[in-house]
Amino acid sequence: MNDFTGKTIWITGASSGIGAALAHALAARGARLILSARSADKLETVRQGCRRPDEHLCLVMDLVDPASIETAWNRLQELSRKVDILINNAGMTQRALVLETRMEVYRLLLEVNFLSAVDLTKKVLPGMLERGAGQIVAVSSLMGKFSSPQRSGYAAAKHALQGFMDSLRTEVHAAGIRVLIVSPGFVNTDVSRNALRGDGTLHNKMDPAQAVAISAESCAEQVIAAMIKGRDEIFPGGKERIGLLLHRLSPALLRWVMRKVRVD
Ligand SMILES: NC(=O)c1ccc[n+]([C@@H]2O[C@H](COP(=O)([O-])OP(=O)(O)OC[C@H]3O[C@@H](n4cnc5c(N)ncnc54)[C@H](OP(=O)(O)O)[C@@H]3O)[C@@H](O)[C@H]2O)c1
Repeated sequence: MNDFTGKTIWITGASSGIGAALAHALAARGARLILSARSADKLETVRQGCRRPDEHLCLVMDLVDPASIETAWNRLQELSRKVDILINNAGMTQRALVLETRMEVYRLLLEVNFLSAVDLTKKVLPGMLERGAGQIVAVSSLMGKFSSPQRSGYAAAKHALQGFMDSLRTEVHAAGIRVLIVSPGFVNTDVSRNALRGDGTLHNKMDPAQAVAISAESCAEQVIAAMIKGRDEIFPGGKERIGLLLHRLSPALLRWVMRKVRVD
């Protein structure tokens, strides 16, 4: 089914990067989209750039604020929109050492990358179970598999996301619900510009690794191919995925490599 006609897909973090690329590619395959993020203007631009813009809905939501999630969900209920596929894509990374990172930054990273995905998943799941079909996609990271310096809160949140989704998959597979975890390496988006420093301000720099990475469009195509095949897990990216191999074959070597990573 390279065709998503008639499917309603809710994408978080749809205002830029991987989420926007997914929106364009899924709309081109016939999906009706619910596009969420904080920036109403950027969401509207994405909606207008999608095929058949009138069929898609922008739903502004701040994932660090449970009340905002609740309001968005209530709006969907008023519109009687059933969600066939939820893509928990929104996320925010970090560029700060443990000692520099304020507790409120840790809390924010956990809300955006993990707890909000739990909340949204719990909201859409009863409907999917009732229909005996559905898909939950979680955009995690290689940092959900292992960790590097200056990512303590981000890696912790993505590890939590991985654990939650792995557990969920075991519970709902027999009921016809598929759970896909996407763990990219580097993708060329604004993710490093939007990364948080220890005091909560933006890093605001394009990291060299992101600048030469695979495109958001290429990542989105890999996600869609995996959704179609009903896969459990994929790892879009480039040669940095060697870290995954090391993690499996020689975790001690990977830990040694990570201790050598330069911290500016
Ligand atoms: N790019 C990479 O190299 C890479 C690698 C591994 C994993 N990932 C993961 O890929 C996902 C997408 O990131 P990206 O690379 O596309 O980066 P991005 O361009 O910075 O996109 C992040 C998205 O998340 C949304 N978002 C951030 N905070 C939010 C909040 N509080 N409430 C609601 N939405 C929020 C942003 O929208 P607003 O600012 O409008 O709210 C934006 O649409 C993330 O989960 C990220 O961790 C990316």
